[in-house]
Amino acid sequence: MSKTYYITTPIYYPSGKLHIGNTYTTVLCDTLKRYKALRGFDAYYLTGMDEHGKKIETVAAERGIAPLDHVKEMAEQTQALWDTLEISYDDFIRTTEKRHKTVVQKIFEQLLDQGDIYLGTYKGYYCMPCESFYTETQLGEHHTCPDCGRETSQLEEESYFFKLSKYQKKLLQFIEDHPDFITPETRKNEVVAFIKQGLNDLSVSRTTFDWGIKVVSNPKHVVYVWIDALSNYISALGYGTDNDQLYQQYWQGTEVVHVVGKDILRFHAIYWPIMLMALGVPVNFKLHAHGFYMMRDGKMSKSKGQVIYPDIILKRYGLDELRYFLLRELPYGGDGVFTPEAFVERINFDLANDFGNLLNRTISMINKYFSGSIRIDETVQTEFDASLNTLTEEVIKNTKSFMNTFKVSQALQEIWRLISRTNKYIDETMPWVLAKDPSQKPVLENVLYHLAESLRQIGILLKPVLIHASANLFKQLNVPESLQEWDSLGFGNQKNYTVIPKPTPLFPRLDVAEEVKALQELIRQGVEETAPQPESTVAEVTIDDFVKLDLRIGKVLTCKHHPDADKLLVSTVDIGQGQTKQIVSGIAKHYQPEDLIGKQVLVLTNLKPVKLRGVLSEGMLLAGSNKETLEVLFAHKLKAGDIVK
Ligand code: MSP
Repeated sequence: MSKTYYITTPIYYPSGKLHIGNTYTTVLCDTLKRYKALRGFDAYYLTGMDEHGKKIETVAAERGIAPLDHVKEMAEQTQALWDTLEISYDDFIRTTEKRHKTVVQKIFEQLLDQGDIYLGTYKGYYCMPCESFYTETQLGEHHTCPDCGRETSQLEEESYFFKLSKYQKKLLQFIEDHPDFITPETRKNEVVAFIKQGLNDLSVSRTTFDWGIKVVSNPKHVVYVWIDALSNYISALGYGTDNDQLYQQYWQGTEVVHVVGKDILRFHAIYWPIMLMALGVPVNFKLHAHGFYMMRDGKMSKSKGQVIYPDIILKRYGLDELRYFLLRELPYGGDGVFTPEAFVERINFDLANDFGNLLNRTISMINKYFSGSIRIDETVQTEFDASLNTLTEEVIKNTKSFMNTFKVSQALQEIWRLISRTNKYIDETMPWVLAKDPSQKPVLENVLYHLAESLRQIGILLKPVLIHASANLFKQLNVPESLQEWDSLGFGNQKNYTVIPKPTPLFPRLDVAEEVKALQELIRQGVEETAPQPESTVAEVTIDDFVKLDLRIGKVLTCKHHPDADKLLVSTVDIGQGQTKQIVSGIAKHYQPEDLIGKQVLVLTNLKPVKLRGVLSEGMLLAGSNKETLEVLFAHKLKAGDIVK
């Protein structure tokens, strides 16, 4: 039986398009999975979406669609993105799936039965954008959110609580007994200090919104985010069901790793192990918390136009360029900055010059001096061979240890040490001089053999990161599959090389000024494109599809603001034949209720009713919009009930 490796990303909120920050987490996990698979592990990679909560309900309402439709669309978009990025995930869990809900409900009831969850009253201040509750002492001046500075609202409600305090000592002991449970060390220290201040019991249910998993024994409560979200790591494996083979295989297997951003460290380092302890599930995961990708002027923010999306980069550059930049530029334990300049320079210097050029020169020389074929000759040596060989061994060893401890940027620096050393070997041995002296032919062949063999090692070490360039390198050097494997690392394992007649560059060199400008423009366009649009229909429809829509003129009888959402208006509309419909529309930014009352509007009347932020909506007011404005379509001569076709 091979050793197993189970790796997870956080499950992402479907509140907006995913940017390169979230992409970093996903690419990092992909790289670690590929690395472990290369090392012979049976590796399994889980990612997914965290689809419940008030914020999601609000986003959907603002778009005028049901939460379930919204999350479905976002999940499809996200999966499509990961597919484009060739992410090697094995499963994609969505918290609205039945397989997940059942497990969460079971977990909740078990904790309730055991007395680890109890009913109490929650008093606090809630920040909706951050989905967080704060006590009065945590708030800023004027009761603002300590994280984002926005206004909070006061809440008092019945809530279930999870007895974190009961497990505080046990958790501290666990962290002490497992020194590599949380990395980096600085993050672990933060967690320990936080626990030592004393853990408050955690509010784990809500009655103020219903877009969540219902508590079976008290359905007026929905499970509040973290018990729902964290359980995904085991619900996806079938924990607690009759079909728990994946759970047995991977959770109970050799290595389990959760990779998260520093902002959600506490939830994973405290709530999650305590939940597992309470459930009697082994806490055998390692937690790695990475830093953030920032933009030059600070945090990524769509509203400030400071955000960059992966698909924007892919439009112009390759996948390997994106992967390399993301993994190389974020230092272990710290934050990284995405700038167009840094991106272009990394491609030019590291990928095109140092690495790509080395392959190019090597293949050209093998063709020029040996018609494309060379072989090992152990009787010949140069004075530089030993140091290249020693460095290669050192780099292999260090890369392994960096990869095993999540230090991917450092692993890449190691590999580049070998690339630089190999480039230097060309300068030292000067093949073009050796070529002038026929008696040096065996030495020249030995030099070129060393270059090819060094590139093969580099290709193997880079396989988890540069997924296309490594394959391309093997193809150009003609490396058989068995010699592309981790176990074939080591000098001298491929005895001869017959390379392709004409090398193709691995990475084209970029014009810095031109590309920086292009990237800035792409970033600008990307920011504009990404606000979730109120639906655009792209598929072709037939007349049979069209006639299914009951479009009519309606007269707005009453109109008021939605009690619970600033962007929504609630209208009652006379649609003729003595019928009225209540319609919720996301138009409050553009119209006041009095602008609509008495007006005749265009209405889709047979839309399936949905609740938008708790208010029933039985149709749709039609409006046109562009980037600047939105305009409801009014009718003047027609009467309520008149058909539109
Ligand atoms: N839904 C929760 C996670 C629940 S896991 C049981 C969540 N979702 S999120 O979509 O807001 O964030 C997902 C991940 O993206 C987090 O790890 C977060 O730290 C990471 N990042 C968000 N912005 C980031 C950067 N700018 N840079 C790097 N990672 C970033 O939190």
